Amino acid sequence: MGVVQGLDLAGLRRVYGRTGSRLFYTWVARNARHWGWTEPGQSKWRLWRAQRQLQDVLGRRLALRPGARVLDAGCGAGVVARAMATRFGLVVDGVDVLDFHLAEARRLSERAALGVRTVFTWADYHDLPYATGEFDGAYAMETLVHSYDPPRALAEFHRVLRPGGKLVLLGPMATGPLEELPPGKRELLEPFLDAMAMTGARVFHAGNLSRLLTEAGFEVEEALDASAYYAPTAEAVHTAFRLPWEVLRRCGDPARWLNLRSTVEMYDVRECVAWYVHTAVKPAR
Ligand SMILES: C[S@@+](CC[C@H](N)C(=O)[O-])C[C@H]1O[C@@H](n2cnc3c(N)ncnc32)[C@H](O)[C@@H]1O
Repeated sequence: MGVVQGLDLAGLRRVYGRTGSRLFYTWVARNARHWGWTEPGQSKWRLWRAQRQLQDVLGRRLALRPGARVLDAGCGAGVVARAMATRFGLVVDGVDVLDFHLAEARRLSERAALGVRTVFTWADYHDLPYATGEFDGAYAMETLVHSYDPPRALAEFHRVLRPGGKLVLLGPMATGPLEELPPGKRELLEPFLDAMAMTGARVFHAGNLSRLLTEAGFEVEEALDASAYYAPTAEAVHTAFRLPWEVLRRCGDPARWLNLRSTVEMYDVRECVAWYVHTAVKPAR
């Protein structure tokens, strides 16, 4: 188990606030801060379709009636919240700790006339400003990896869900405990986790997240290793940005291009990283 720290706001600002990161997410990822889901036989280059498909994977697993209220833990610019509202009829409360993400989320939802069905609030998802049992569903799209205390975050998701409420977690994690990774891989992965404020990856991994969910009181319905569906997007992004990264590394200030660097260099440890979709339910009394 890793050392549990508090919220690393400075780290998250460094990851998401730098110019290079903002440009990437705004222009390349069209405001989404998540990867994509590519079906076998589909082109790896259709990033926006892959992102839409990943959002649909989430919506289908939540499987809630239109009008149901869901929590979006770590909402970023609210792309996923708006997808859940428009394509699945859900009413979404998004929380995030980065003020510039929340401002962007509100602006984009206003522009899409979704200001009522998607609401965004500053909150740390380890300590939510909601009553017990308020939500029909909750999800975390590629954000639990930033958690400084995953068991506490899962307990908090469990608390705010009603009995029978659904939780879906999507995102990356190490394939196993860091100390058991093949020699040479851990040395590559750990500085990356630190630079990207991915504290949660020191605590949970593909081998123990289901158990942590159970310990938090959930029944795990599915723990899907979705790495094969994520791989084409990672491959396309790596291919597209390898050369730009080389140029920036030699001519610019590499620290300003943290996300670009991670996208390119972390491709080398891809066999130690798995992408999962966990679906769990808070048992009905
Ligand atoms: C990779 S982004 C994903 C954003 C969004 N889910 C999406 O898919 O577009 C991770 C987000 O989680 C947020 N985050 C990290 N730790 C958090 C915490 N403890 N509480 C709330 N949000 C957090 C970050 O600020 C960031 O916006």
